[in-house]
Amino acid sequence: MINGVMMTLAGMLVIVITLGLSPSAAYAQAETVCIECHAAQTGRTGEPVRQWQTSIHAENGISCHNCHGGDPKDTPNAMSPARGFLGAPKEADIPAFCGQCHVGIKVEYLASAHGKALGRGGPTCVTCHGSHGIKRVTLDIINEKTCSQCHSYERAAEIKEAMRLTERHITDIGAQLGKLKGKGIETEAQEKKLFSERNRYHRLFHDVDTGRVKAESAGINKELEKIDGWLTGFADTFYKRKLAGGIAVGSALLAALLFHLLMKTYE
Ligand code: HEC
Ligand code: HEC
Ligand code: HEC
Ligand code: HEC
Ligand code: HEC
Repeated sequence: MINGVMMTLAGMLVIVITLGLSPSAAYAQAETVCIECHAAQTGRTGEPVRQWQTSIHAENGISCHNCHGGDPKDTPNAMSPARGFLGAPKEADIPAFCGQCHVGIKVEYLASAHGKALGRGGPTCVTCHGSHGIKRVTLDIINEKTCSQCHSYERAAEIKEAMRLTERHITDIGAQLGKLKGKGIETEAQEKKLFSERNRYHRLFHDVDTGRVKAESAGINKELEKIDGWLTGFADTFYKRKLAGGIAVGSALLAALLFHLLMKTYE
């Protein structure tokens, strides 16, 4: 129990540190005794290192001991339960294992049709995301190979379709804001808004409730349209300013030319 609480605290600390400081690659790949010893092994104990190296977790400084516990600095006691080592989780324990850090997702998953079927043929986190080679998510995770293992793909396709338009909308707006920012234009408020809508959207999936996904997507799209409105309004004023700027420069040139001609007539 105490161990569980400590792991949760350690996990939260790791998240705060990684999200707050965005660690350098050097920190993310910091050598530990876990990596040192396991990298030298082949098969089921060595393979996790190879897969983990290119994962989103490695990129964010989440190492073996952050998930599995244990002492990353003390070779003889590294895998001692007294140092918080959890071992490899059994299938039914996986949601709680990942939920050490992904707390909200664990709650939503457990309440869903998938979570209710945990241990009775339902998918766990690693069925869809993998365990060591986990990558940043995209809608491609919903595909025929993964989602037709247990039921018809039709249901999966329907939920994917409901999410696809919203995803495209988010990507488009992100690209447009990125371009304006590149030109030194103040976009922070709009980016914050997009960030919160993107989070809202990414959290939708684990309920696996197509009706709710559709309703929520409509709400998210409404908010996204407000950012679209801002972008259009901005493009308009930007164009007008450019036009006004052009007229001002043109007038100045014309004045200079007239002055020059005038001087000439006096010479
Ligand atoms: C000195 C070498 C060495 C070090 C250090 C080491 N391991 Fe291991 N680890 C092993 C070997 C060997 C096995 C396989 C043993 C077995 O199957 O009983 C193993 C097994 C495991 C397993 C699978 C356990 C299971 O239940 O199947 C996990 C998870 C693991 N190690 C994680 C870690 C973590 C995390 C650390 C660092 C905190 C670590 N190891 C440090 C050698 C090491
Ligand atoms: C994001 C969390 C996470 C990280 C980080 C992680 N693991 Fe694991 N690991 C798991 C899960 C979940 C399982 C059990 C499910 C499975 O085998 O797919 C597992 C299983 C294992 C096993 C047992 C494999 C088997 O086939 O029996 C070993 C060994 C292991 N991990 C070692 C490591 C080592 C070494 C690292 C660091 C390079 C590491 N893990 C990093 C989540 C993680
Ligand atoms: C049935 C497949 C499936 C299961 C089971 C599943 N996920 Fe996901 N997960 C997805 C899909 C699909 C997405 C992303 C969809 C999108 O937003 O593009 C996702 C998104 C995520 C994200 C990114 C969310 C964000 O806010 O950016 C995380 C983290 C995540 N899942 C972790 C978990 C964890 C932890 C569990 C177990 C408690 C789990 N997933 C169970 C399919 C699954
Ligand atoms: C020790 C804390 C910790 C544990 C345990 C953990 N994660 Fe993560 N996870 C993170 C952090 C930190 C990130 C990177 C932050 C981010 O970009 O969202 C991340 C990112 C992810 C992403 C990509 C999110 C995205 O935005 O695309 C997925 C998917 C994911 N984790 C799934 C899992 C799964 C599945 C497990 C269990 C096998 C797990 N995580 C265990 C901390 C953890
Ligand atoms: C390991 C088996 C398994 C996998 C893999 C799986 N599912 Fe499921 N799914 C279930 C079970 C079990 C249920 C609940 C019982 C039922 O409704 O058939 C379910 C139900 C659903 C439902 C209906 C939920 C509801 O409330 O009516 C949707 C939608 C769904 N899954 C989507 C997906 C998607 C999308 C994927 C792939 C990313 C996927 N599933 C992968 C086992 C699985």
